Amino acid sequence: MGADMFHLGWFFEGASPQAWGRPFSGAIGRDWMKPDFPMDVARALERARFDYVLIEDSSYVADAYRGDMEVYLRNAIATPRQDPAVVANVMIQATSRIGIVPTLATFAYPPYILARLMGTLDQVSNGRAGWNMVTGSSTRAAQNFGLADQAEHDIRYEMADEYMAVVNGLWDSWGPGSIVDDEENGVFADFKQVKTIDFEGKYYKVRGPLNSGPLPQGRPTIAQAGGSARGRQFAAEHAQTVVCVANGLAAMKAYRDDVRVRMAQEGRNPNDVKVLFLINPVIGATESEAQERLDQRMQAAIEMAEIRLAHFSKITNIPFGEFDLDEPLGDRELKTNGHQQSLEQFVARNKGKTLREAAAGLGGSGCIDLVGTPASIAAQMDEAMTEVGGDGFLFVNDELSRRTLAEVADGLIPALQKRGLTRTHYTHEQFTDNLLEF
Ligand SMILES: Cc1cc2nc3c(=O)[nH]c(=O)nc-3n(C[C@H](O)[C@H](O)[C@H](O)COP(=O)(O)O)c2cc1C
Repeated sequence: MGADMFHLGWFFEGASPQAWGRPFSGAIGRDWMKPDFPMDVARALERARFDYVLIEDSSYVADAYRGDMEVYLRNAIATPRQDPAVVANVMIQATSRIGIVPTLATFAYPPYILARLMGTLDQVSNGRAGWNMVTGSSTRAAQNFGLADQAEHDIRYEMADEYMAVVNGLWDSWGPGSIVDDEENGVFADFKQVKTIDFEGKYYKVRGPLNSGPLPQGRPTIAQAGGSARGRQFAAEHAQTVVCVANGLAAMKAYRDDVRVRMAQEGRNPNDVKVLFLINPVIGATESEAQERLDQRMQAAIEMAEIRLAHFSKITNIPFGEFDLDEPLGDRELKTNGHQQSLEQFVARNKGKTLREAAAGLGGSGCIDLVGTPASIAAQMDEAMTEVGGDGFLFVNDELSRRTLAEVADGLIPALQKRGLTRTHYTHEQFTDNLLEF
Protein backbone atom coordinates (compact mmCIF):
# COMPACT_ATOMS: atom_id res chain seq x y z
CA MET A 1 0.00 0.00 0.00
CA GLY A 2 1.26 3.46 -0.87
CA ALA A 3 1.29 6.69 1.07
CA ASP A 4 -1.79 8.78 1.84
CA MET A 5 -2.42 11.95 -0.17
CA PHE A 6 0.15 14.61 0.60
CA HIS A 7 0.66 18.35 0.16
CA LEU A 8 2.78 20.45 -2.16
CA GLY A 9 4.50 23.78 -1.68
CA TRP A 10 7.06 25.74 -3.64
CA PHE A 11 9.91 27.69 -2.06
CA PHE A 12 10.24 30.64 -4.43
CA GLU A 13 13.59 32.29 -3.82
CA GLY A 14 12.27 35.81 -3.59
CA ALA A 15 11.44 38.32 -6.28
CA SER A 16 14.94 38.31 -7.73
CA PRO A 17 16.45 37.64 -11.16
CA GLN A 18 15.85 33.88 -10.91
CA ALA A 19 18.49 31.68 -12.54
CA TRP A 20 20.25 34.67 -14.04
CA GLY A 21 23.11 33.46 -16.24
CA ARG A 22 21.82 29.88 -16.26
CA PRO A 23 20.22 28.08 -19.22
CA PHE A 24 16.61 28.78 -20.25
CA SER A 25 16.17 31.77 -17.95
CA GLY A 26 14.79 33.88 -20.81
CA ALA A 27 15.52 37.60 -20.69
CA ILE A 28 15.44 37.66 -16.90
CA GLY A 29 18.36 40.11 -16.79
CA ARG A 30 16.11 42.62 -18.53
CA ASP A 31 12.67 41.53 -17.28
CA TRP A 32 13.40 40.78 -13.60
CA MET A 33 11.42 43.78 -12.33
CA LYS A 34 8.25 42.93 -14.30
CA PRO A 35 5.43 40.87 -12.77
CA ASP A 36 5.30 38.26 -15.56
CA PHE A 37 7.63 35.66 -14.10
CA PRO A 38 6.09 35.47 -10.60
CA MET A 39 2.64 35.41 -12.26
CA ASP A 40 3.68 32.51 -14.50
CA VAL A 41 5.13 30.68 -11.48
CA ALA A 42 1.91 31.05 -9.47
CA ARG A 43 -0.28 30.03 -12.41
CA ALA A 44 1.79 26.92 -13.17
CA LEU A 45 1.70 25.83 -9.53
CA GLU A 46 -2.03 26.39 -9.32
CA ARG A 47 -2.47 24.32 -12.49
CA ALA A 48 -0.57 21.56 -10.65
CA ARG A 49 -2.82 22.06 -7.58
CA PHE A 50 -0.09 23.11 -5.17
CA ASP A 51 -1.20 24.15 -1.70
CA TYR A 52 1.03 27.18 -1.72
CA VAL A 53 3.93 29.17 -3.03
CA LEU A 54 6.17 30.63 -0.34
CA ILE A 55 8.05 33.80 -1.26
CA GLU A 56 11.38 33.82 0.55
CA ASP A 57 12.78 37.17 1.60
CA SER A 58 15.57 39.15 3.20
CA SER A 59 15.87 42.92 3.29
CA TYR A 60 19.49 43.83 2.58
CA VAL A 61 22.28 43.47 0.04
CA ALA A 62 24.71 40.99 1.54
CA ASP A 63 28.45 41.42 2.01
CA ALA A 64 29.05 38.49 4.36
CA TYR A 65 31.21 36.44 1.99
CA ARG A 66 34.30 38.60 1.77
CA GLY A 67 33.33 41.83 3.43
CA ASP A 68 32.11 43.47 0.23
CA MET A 69 29.01 43.22 -1.98
CA GLU A 70 30.78 42.26 -5.19
CA VAL A 71 29.98 38.55 -5.41
CA TYR A 72 26.30 39.20 -4.63
CA LEU A 73 25.82 42.00 -7.15
CA ARG A 74 27.91 40.42 -9.91
CA ASN A 75 25.95 37.16 -9.72
CA ALA A 76 22.48 38.46 -8.79
CA ILE A 77 22.47 36.46 -5.52
CA ALA A 78 19.22 37.47 -3.80
CA THR A 79 19.74 40.91 -5.35
CA PRO A 80 17.88 42.95 -6.48
CA ARG A 81 15.03 41.73 -4.35
CA GLN A 82 11.57 43.27 -4.58
CA ASP A 83 9.10 43.66 -1.75
CA PRO A 84 7.51 40.25 -1.07
CA ALA A 85 4.06 41.60 -0.14
CA VAL A 86 3.77 43.42 -3.46
CA VAL A 87 4.88 40.31 -5.32
CA ALA A 88 2.40 38.27 -3.26
CA ASN A 89 -0.37 40.52 -4.51
CA VAL A 90 0.80 40.11 -8.11
CA MET A 91 0.58 36.34 -7.64
CA ILE A 92 -2.80 36.64 -5.95
CA GLN A 93 -4.22 38.60 -8.88
CA ALA A 94 -2.97 35.95 -11.33
CA THR A 95 -4.63 33.01 -9.51
CA SER A 96 -7.82 31.97 -7.71
CA ARG A 97 -7.15 28.96 -5.45
CA ILE A 98 -3.50 28.53 -4.52
CA GLY A 99 -2.20 29.86 -1.16
CA ILE A 100 0.29 32.74 -1.38
CA VAL A 101 2.80 33.05 1.46
CA PRO A 102 5.13 36.05 1.66
CA THR A 103 8.00 36.03 4.16
CA LEU A 104 7.91 39.02 6.51
CA ALA A 105 10.35 39.31 9.40
CA THR A 106 9.10 40.28 12.84
CA PHE A 107 12.08 42.55 13.56
CA ALA A 108 11.33 44.62 10.44
CA TYR A 109 7.57 45.10 10.66
CA PRO A 110 5.82 46.66 13.62
CA PRO A 111 3.09 44.13 14.47
CA TYR A 112 0.28 46.51 13.61
CA ILE A 113 1.62 47.01 10.07
CA LEU A 114 2.11 43.30 9.62
CA ALA A 115 -1.39 42.43 10.86
CA ARG A 116 -2.90 45.00 8.54
CA LEU A 117 -0.77 43.95 5.56
CA MET A 118 -1.50 40.25 5.96
CA GLY A 119 -5.16 41.01 6.70
CA THR A 120 -5.48 42.98 3.49
CA LEU A 121 -3.76 40.23 1.47
CA ASP A 122 -6.21 37.73 2.93
CA GLN A 123 -9.11 39.96 1.90
CA VAL A 124 -7.99 40.64 -1.68
CA SER A 125 -7.17 36.94 -2.17
CA ASN A 126 -10.52 35.72 -0.84
CA GLY A 127 -8.86 33.86 2.03
CA ARG A 128 -5.66 32.59 0.42
CA ALA A 129 -2.98 34.50 2.32
CA GLY A 130 -0.31 32.88 4.45
CA TRP A 131 2.54 34.45 6.38
CA ASN A 132 6.00 32.88 6.58
CA MET A 133 6.84 34.00 10.07
CA VAL A 134 10.57 34.61 10.38
CA THR A 135 12.35 36.52 13.10
CA GLY A 136 15.23 37.70 10.87
CA SER A 137 18.79 36.53 11.29
CA SER A 138 21.14 38.99 9.61
CA THR A 139 23.15 41.80 11.18
CA ARG A 140 23.11 43.73 7.91
CA ALA A 141 19.32 43.58 7.75
CA ALA A 142 19.10 44.81 11.35
CA GLN A 143 21.25 47.80 10.38
CA ASN A 144 18.65 48.83 7.80
CA PHE A 145 16.17 49.27 10.62
CA GLY A 146 18.14 51.35 13.09
CA LEU A 147 19.40 48.34 15.06
CA ALA A 148 23.04 47.47 15.74
CA ASP A 149 22.31 43.74 15.41
CA GLN A 150 19.60 41.08 15.70
CA ALA A 151 18.57 40.02 19.18
CA GLU A 152 20.16 36.78 20.41
CA HIS A 153 18.67 33.56 18.89
CA ASP A 154 16.35 32.44 21.71
CA ILE A 155 15.34 36.02 22.62
CA ARG A 156 14.17 36.43 19.03
CA TYR A 157 11.73 33.57 19.54
CA GLU A 158 10.63 34.97 22.91
CA MET A 159 9.87 38.27 21.17
CA ALA A 160 8.13 36.38 18.37
CA ASP A 161 5.82 34.65 20.87
CA GLU A 162 4.73 38.05 22.13
CA TYR A 163 4.47 39.33 18.56
CA MET A 164 2.06 36.48 17.76
CA ALA A 165 -0.11 37.43 20.73
CA VAL A 166 -0.35 40.97 19.33
CA VAL A 167 -1.13 40.08 15.72
CA ASN A 168 -3.58 37.36 16.71
CA GLY A 169 -5.31 39.90 18.96
CA LEU A 170 -5.52 42.36 16.09
CA TRP A 171 -6.86 39.77 13.65
CA ASP A 172 -9.47 38.81 16.25
CA SER A 173 -10.36 42.44 17.02
CA TRP A 174 -13.30 42.31 14.60
CA GLY A 175 -15.88 39.71 15.60
CA PRO A 176 -17.00 37.25 12.92
CA GLY A 177 -20.36 39.01 12.41
CA SER A 178 -19.05 42.56 12.78
CA ILE A 179 -19.77 43.66 9.20
CA VAL A 180 -23.58 43.74 9.02
CA ASP A 181 -23.97 45.79 5.79
CA ASP A 182 -27.54 46.76 6.72
CA GLU A 183 -28.43 49.70 4.49
CA GLU A 184 -32.05 49.80 5.64
CA ASN A 185 -31.09 50.54 9.23
CA GLY A 186 -28.01 52.51 8.29
CA VAL A 187 -25.46 50.18 9.91
CA PHE A 188 -22.30 49.10 8.15
CA ALA A 189 -20.42 47.60 11.10
CA ASP A 190 -21.63 46.59 14.56
CA PHE A 191 -19.50 48.71 16.90
CA LYS A 192 -20.06 46.27 19.78
CA GLN A 193 -18.13 43.60 17.90
CA VAL A 194 -15.02 45.67 17.19
CA LYS A 195 -12.69 45.97 20.18
CA THR A 196 -9.39 47.49 21.17
CA ILE A 197 -6.78 44.98 22.31
CA ASP A 198 -4.84 47.26 24.70
CA PHE A 199 -1.78 45.02 24.55
CA GLU A 200 1.12 45.89 26.82
CA GLY A 201 3.93 43.35 26.94
CA LYS A 202 7.66 43.30 27.48
CA TYR A 203 8.45 44.21 23.85
CA TYR A 204 5.27 45.53 22.23
CA LYS A 205 2.51 47.93 23.07
CA VAL A 206 -0.49 48.15 20.71
CA ARG A 207 -3.94 49.60 21.23
CA GLY A 208 -5.98 48.28 18.26
CA PRO A 209 -8.40 47.45 16.83
CA LEU A 210 -7.16 46.76 13.34
CA ASN A 211 -8.60 49.37 10.99
CA SER A 212 -8.64 47.12 7.92
CA GLY A 213 -11.53 44.93 9.08
CA PRO A 214 -11.99 41.17 9.51
CA LEU A 215 -10.16 38.57 7.45
CA PRO A 216 -12.00 35.97 5.33
CA GLN A 217 -9.93 33.26 7.07
CA GLY A 218 -10.11 34.93 10.47
CA ARG A 219 -6.34 34.69 10.63
CA PRO A 220 -3.88 34.04 7.81
CA THR A 221 -2.25 30.63 7.53
CA ILE A 222 1.05 30.64 9.44
CA ALA A 223 4.18 29.02 7.99
CA GLN A 224 7.38 28.56 9.97
CA ALA A 225 10.89 27.47 9.08
CA GLY A 226 13.21 27.59 12.11
CA GLY A 227 14.62 24.12 12.73
CA SER A 228 16.25 24.56 16.14
CA ALA A 229 14.46 23.11 19.18
CA ARG A 230 13.22 26.60 19.99
CA GLY A 231 12.05 27.05 16.39
CA ARG A 232 10.15 23.75 16.40
CA GLN A 233 8.52 24.68 19.69
CA PHE A 234 7.39 27.95 18.12
CA ALA A 235 5.95 26.05 15.15
CA ALA A 236 4.11 23.67 17.47
CA GLU A 237 2.43 26.61 19.14
CA HIS A 238 1.60 28.80 16.16
CA ALA A 239 2.04 27.26 12.69
CA GLN A 240 -0.21 25.41 10.27
CA THR A 241 2.71 24.48 8.03
CA VAL A 242 6.41 23.97 8.65
CA VAL A 243 9.06 24.03 5.96
CA CYS A 244 11.82 21.63 6.85
CA VAL A 245 15.33 20.80 5.78
CA ALA A 246 16.55 17.47 7.19
CA ASN A 247 19.14 15.02 5.85
CA GLY A 248 17.44 11.79 4.84
CA LEU A 249 14.34 9.85 5.79
CA ALA A 250 15.23 9.13 9.42
CA ALA A 251 15.94 12.80 10.16
CA MET A 252 12.77 13.86 8.32
CA LYS A 253 10.68 11.47 10.38
CA ALA A 254 12.36 12.56 13.62
CA TYR A 255 11.72 16.23 12.80
CA ARG A 256 8.06 15.71 12.01
CA ASP A 257 7.52 13.42 15.01
CA ASP A 258 9.12 16.03 17.26
CA VAL A 259 6.82 18.81 16.01
CA ARG A 260 3.80 16.53 16.46
CA VAL A 261 4.76 15.58 20.03
CA ARG A 262 5.24 19.26 20.88
CA MET A 263 1.84 20.06 19.39
CA ALA A 264 0.12 17.42 21.50
CA GLN A 265 1.87 18.87 24.56
CA GLU A 266 0.48 22.28 23.60
CA GLY A 267 -3.01 20.80 23.37
CA ARG A 268 -3.15 21.10 19.58
CA ASN A 269 -4.16 18.34 17.16
CA PRO A 270 -0.89 17.20 15.47
CA ASN A 271 -2.78 16.88 12.17
CA ASP A 272 -3.31 20.64 12.17
CA VAL A 273 0.25 21.25 11.03
CA LYS A 274 1.68 20.08 7.72
CA VAL A 275 5.43 19.56 7.65
CA LEU A 276 6.74 19.94 4.10
CA PHE A 277 10.20 18.66 3.22
CA LEU A 278 12.52 20.54 0.92
CA ILE A 279 13.36 18.70 -2.34
CA ASN A 280 14.97 19.56 -5.66
CA PRO A 281 14.36 16.60 -7.99
CA VAL A 282 16.33 15.96 -11.17
CA ILE A 283 13.75 15.08 -13.81
CA GLY A 284 14.34 13.53 -17.23
CA ALA A 285 12.11 12.08 -19.95
CA THR A 286 14.11 8.85 -19.55
CA GLU A 287 16.30 7.49 -16.75
CA SER A 288 19.43 8.12 -18.79
CA GLU A 289 18.40 11.70 -19.49
CA ALA A 290 17.84 12.18 -15.76
CA GLN A 291 21.34 10.83 -15.06
CA GLU A 292 22.74 13.23 -17.63
CA ARG A 293 20.91 16.12 -15.99
CA LEU A 294 22.30 15.02 -12.62
CA ASP A 295 25.84 15.05 -14.04
CA GLN A 296 25.19 18.53 -15.41
CA ARG A 297 23.94 19.67 -12.02
CA MET A 298 27.02 18.30 -10.25
CA GLN A 299 29.26 20.00 -12.81
CA ALA A 300 27.36 23.27 -12.30
CA ALA A 301 27.72 22.84 -8.53
CA ILE A 302 31.50 22.76 -8.89
CA GLU A 303 31.46 25.79 -11.19
CA MET A 304 29.10 27.57 -8.82
CA ALA A 305 30.88 26.64 -5.57
CA GLU A 306 31.72 30.25 -4.83
CA ILE A 307 28.17 31.44 -5.53
CA ARG A 308 26.72 28.76 -3.28
CA LEU A 309 29.19 29.54 -0.50
CA ALA A 310 28.40 33.24 -0.84
CA HIS A 311 24.74 32.42 -0.41
CA PHE A 312 25.58 30.30 2.63
CA SER A 313 27.64 33.19 4.05
CA LYS A 314 24.56 35.34 3.64
CA ILE A 315 22.40 33.12 5.86
CA THR A 316 25.07 32.32 8.45
CA ASN A 317 26.98 35.65 8.52
CA ILE A 318 30.24 33.64 8.23
CA PRO A 319 32.88 35.14 5.84
CA PHE A 320 33.68 31.95 3.90
CA GLY A 321 35.32 34.09 1.20
CA GLU A 322 38.15 34.83 3.65
CA PHE A 323 38.88 31.13 4.27
CA ASP A 324 41.20 28.86 2.33
CA LEU A 325 38.83 26.80 0.18
CA ASP A 326 41.20 23.83 0.24
CA GLU A 327 41.54 23.57 4.00
CA PRO A 328 39.57 20.80 5.77
CA LEU A 329 36.37 22.13 7.23
CA GLY A 330 36.58 20.00 10.40
CA ASP A 331 39.51 22.03 11.76
CA ARG A 332 37.44 25.16 12.16
CA GLU A 333 34.96 26.05 14.80
CA LEU A 334 31.96 27.61 13.12
CA LYS A 335 29.28 29.47 15.04
CA THR A 336 26.34 31.57 13.93
CA ASN A 337 23.61 33.72 15.36
CA GLY A 338 21.87 33.19 11.99
CA HIS A 339 20.53 29.88 10.61
CA GLN A 340 21.91 27.54 13.29
CA GLN A 341 20.29 24.37 12.04
CA SER A 342 21.57 24.87 8.47
CA LEU A 343 25.11 25.38 9.77
CA GLU A 344 24.95 22.30 12.00
CA GLN A 345 23.78 20.18 9.07
CA PHE A 346 26.51 21.58 6.83
CA VAL A 347 29.22 20.78 9.38
CA ALA A 348 27.84 17.29 10.13
CA ARG A 349 27.56 16.41 6.44
CA ASN A 350 31.02 17.57 5.48
CA LYS A 351 33.35 16.20 8.15
CA GLY A 352 36.79 15.64 6.61
CA LYS A 353 35.97 17.53 3.42
CA THR A 354 37.53 20.77 2.27
CA LEU A 355 35.40 23.87 2.00
CA ARG A 356 35.49 23.61 -1.80
CA GLU A 357 34.19 20.03 -1.68
CA ALA A 358 31.57 20.93 0.90
CA ALA A 359 30.40 23.87 -1.20
CA ALA A 360 29.52 21.57 -4.09
CA GLY A 361 26.85 19.99 -1.89
CA LEU A 362 25.19 23.29 -1.02
CA GLY A 363 21.93 24.21 -2.69
CA GLY A 364 21.74 20.62 -3.92
CA SER A 365 19.06 18.05 -3.53
CA GLY A 366 17.27 19.01 -0.30
CA CYS A 367 16.17 16.33 2.18
CA ILE A 368 16.48 13.34 -0.19
CA ASP A 369 17.97 12.71 -3.64
CA LEU A 370 15.28 12.29 -6.29
CA VAL A 371 16.51 11.43 -9.78
CA GLY A 372 14.54 9.86 -12.61
CA THR A 373 11.51 10.11 -14.84
CA PRO A 374 8.28 11.64 -13.54
CA ALA A 375 6.90 8.14 -12.92
CA SER A 376 9.97 6.85 -11.08
CA ILE A 377 10.31 10.00 -8.95
CA ALA A 378 6.62 9.79 -8.07
CA ALA A 379 7.29 6.25 -6.84
CA GLN A 380 10.28 7.43 -4.79
CA MET A 381 8.17 10.21 -3.23
CA ASP A 382 5.45 7.67 -2.46
CA GLU A 383 7.99 5.49 -0.65
CA ALA A 384 9.47 8.43 1.25
CA MET A 385 6.08 9.58 2.51
CA THR A 386 5.12 6.03 3.50
CA GLU A 387 8.24 5.89 5.65
CA VAL A 388 8.06 9.41 7.10
CA GLY A 389 4.29 9.43 7.65
CA GLY A 390 3.50 12.75 5.87
CA ASP A 391 2.83 15.57 5.12
CA GLY A 392 4.31 16.53 1.76
CA PHE A 393 7.09 18.30 -0.08
CA LEU A 394 8.37 21.81 -0.65
CA PHE A 395 10.07 22.17 -4.02
CA VAL A 396 13.02 24.47 -4.55
CA ASN A 397 15.16 24.99 -7.61
CA ASP A 398 18.09 27.35 -7.78
CA GLU A 399 17.84 27.22 -11.58
CA LEU A 400 14.17 28.15 -11.59
CA SER A 401 13.01 28.95 -15.12
CA ARG A 402 9.79 28.35 -17.00
CA ARG A 403 11.40 25.14 -18.24
CA THR A 404 12.34 23.67 -14.85
CA LEU A 405 8.98 24.80 -13.48
CA ALA A 406 7.12 22.94 -16.25
CA GLU A 407 9.15 19.81 -15.56
CA VAL A 408 7.55 19.74 -12.12
CA ALA A 409 4.12 21.23 -12.81
CA ASP A 410 3.45 19.44 -16.08
CA GLY A 411 5.71 16.40 -15.73
CA LEU A 412 6.12 15.18 -12.17
CA ILE A 413 2.86 16.37 -10.62
CA PRO A 414 0.57 14.61 -13.15
CA ALA A 415 2.53 11.41 -12.35
CA LEU A 416 1.84 11.94 -8.64
CA GLN A 417 -1.82 12.61 -9.38
CA LYS A 418 -2.01 9.37 -11.38
CA ARG A 419 -0.90 7.49 -8.26
CA GLY A 420 -3.56 9.30 -6.23
CA LEU A 421 -0.90 11.02 -4.12
CA THR A 422 -1.69 14.68 -4.73
CA ARG A 423 -4.94 16.51 -5.39
CA THR A 424 -6.47 16.98 -8.84
CA HIS A 425 -8.81 19.75 -7.71
CA TYR A 426 -9.12 22.18 -4.83
CA THR A 427 -12.00 21.19 -2.55
CA HIS A 428 -12.20 24.50 -0.69
CA GLU A 429 -11.94 28.17 -1.54
CA GLN A 430 -9.68 29.07 1.37
CA PHE A 431 -6.05 28.18 1.93
CA THR A 432 -6.09 26.74 5.47
CA ASP A 433 -9.12 24.57 4.62
CA ASN A 434 -7.28 23.04 1.66
CA LEU A 435 -4.10 22.61 3.69
CA LEU A 436 -5.84 20.81 6.54
CA GLU A 437 -8.21 18.79 4.34
CA PHE A 438 -6.08 15.64 4.48
C1 LIG B 1 13.61 26.11 4.38
C2 LIG B 1 13.91 27.38 5.12
C3 LIG B 1 13.48 28.59 4.59
C4 LIG B 1 13.73 29.82 5.23
N1 LIG B 1 13.33 30.98 4.66
C5 LIG B 1 13.66 32.16 5.24
C6 LIG B 1 13.36 33.42 4.62
O1 LIG B 1 12.79 33.48 3.54
N2 LIG B 1 13.73 34.57 5.26
C7 LIG B 1 14.37 34.55 6.46
O2 LIG B 1 14.66 35.62 6.99
N3 LIG B 1 14.66 33.38 7.06
C8 LIG B 1 14.33 32.21 6.47
N4 LIG B 1 14.65 31.03 7.09
C9 LIG B 1 15.31 31.09 8.39
C10 LIG B 1 14.42 30.74 9.54
O3 LIG B 1 13.29 31.53 9.61
C11 LIG B 1 15.20 30.87 10.84
O4 LIG B 1 15.53 32.21 11.10
C12 LIG B 1 16.47 30.11 10.76
O5 LIG B 1 16.23 28.81 10.29
C13 LIG B 1 17.11 30.08 12.13
O6 LIG B 1 16.25 29.53 13.04
P1 LIG B 1 16.61 28.17 13.76
O7 LIG B 1 17.90 28.44 14.44
O8 LIG B 1 15.45 27.95 14.65
O9 LIG B 1 16.76 27.12 12.69
C14 LIG B 1 14.41 29.81 6.45
C15 LIG B 1 14.84 28.59 7.00
C16 LIG B 1 14.60 27.39 6.36
C17 LIG B 1 15.08 26.12 6.99
